[in-house]
Amino acid sequence: MRYGFGCDHAGIDFKELLVRELEGAGHEVVDMGTFTRERTDFPIYANKVAQAVSEGTLDLGVLVCGTGLGMAVAASRYPGIRAVAVSDCFSARMARRHTDANILCLGARVLGEGAALEVLRAWLSAEFEGGRYEQRLQMMRGGYKGTSLEAAGS
Ligand code: RB5
Repeated sequence: MRYGFGCDHAGIDFKELLVRELEGAGHEVVDMGTFTRERTDFPIYANKVAQAVSEGTLDLGVLVCGTGLGMAVAASRYPGIRAVAVSDCFSARMARRHTDANILCLGARVLGEGAALEVLRAWLSAEFEGGRYEQRLQMMRGGYKGTSLEAAGS
């Protein structure tokens, strides 16, 4: 797995912590900035990571800003990107299992460092369930021809 990381000035300490975590576990990490604490604009880094994941040069992305919210909005504009802003482990797992989220966005002003690491681990440990959730992704892409999946249950 190749992971792309990005952050703005608010997220730089968290990003470095999370990068060390993944590198320590032997993963390939591409850090796309920012690299200083100078004030900058989160869409620059959301765009870089989302474009790389969208084009398939990276498998998954992690973006950190103050809240995670701006990063998720910016990254989700790219084809095939499902970016989620998450601040608890249950949501992190469900984001993978039911929506196949391929970019995790974290808020450095929302979470403590320990919680951010746990949320990252929860997201990485979960797997997409496919089946009716794949059909729902198709519905979002406009490629599903049915009108409802109600008969399939929840
Ligand atoms: C920067 O001050 C802040 O707006 C940014 O880090 C992020 O929270 C936006 O969603």
